[in-house]
Amino acid sequence: MPEILESPEKYMFNAYGIWLLDNKHRFVKQIKKNVSPSAHGDKHWDSSYLLMDYLEDEKVKKGTRVLDVGCGWGPSAIYLANRGCKVTGLDLDEDVFSFLEVQSVLNSVNITKRVGAMADMKKKDLEQFDLIVGGDICFWDELVDEWFKMLKRAASAGVKRVVMGDPGRSTFLELADKCELKWPTSMLPWYSHQPKRFEGYVLDVQLNE
Ligand SMILES: C[S@@+](CC[C@H](N)C(=O)[O-])C[C@H]1O[C@@H](n2cnc3c(N)ncnc32)[C@H](O)[C@@H]1O
Repeated sequence: MPEILESPEKYMFNAYGIWLLDNKHRFVKQIKKNVSPSAHGDKHWDSSYLLMDYLEDEKVKKGTRVLDVGCGWGPSAIYLANRGCKVTGLDLDEDVFSFLEVQSVLNSVNITKRVGAMADMKKKDLEQFDLIVGGDICFWDELVDEWFKMLKRAASAGVKRVVMGDPGRSTFLELADKCELKWPTSMLPWYSHQPKRFEGYVLDVQLNE
């Protein structure tokens, strides 16, 4: 079982080795006075903890080039950077990046920030990555197609793998079905236990050997 770490400050918590800020933290409140994310990038989403838990036991080599799609406040991006990966956070909403920045500093990691939609990621952009991750970022009907098309481009760009966490939305299940028909795919019911118990699914797709 994981060690219980005492929070150094009120409204700061630990999950899978990284420190994150609660909505009530003074830095978060301060940032919220200036920005207001518009596409659900207004908190950490629990699916990112599913991703972290799943990746704990996976061999992710230091230096792995990771694209975190719909990174939001950056929980998954920060987790992977803390494990020595070179991480880019992609989000169409530039307002999320102030939250990501402050939490990156808190964890002494660097994340490359990229404003844009996954539909904008061309083959030459995707060639720069080995692994794509995403936490709760297949929630609108149109995102199923946007994901699937990007994954086809990613496969031809040589990206090896995509790992996604999700509570089990119908859109995510639809994407999983499409992936299963095209690539070696695992769809696993999963739970995380930090910072609290949360149940959902992890989708792990092998795009290339
Ligand atoms: C539900 S939040 C999840 C955030 C983060 N992954 C987490 O687990 O805390 C979805 C995020 O995806 C972003 N987003 C939505 N559609 C997107 C798209 N087509 N391309 C890139 N980012 C997108 C939103 O701005 C938002 O920050």
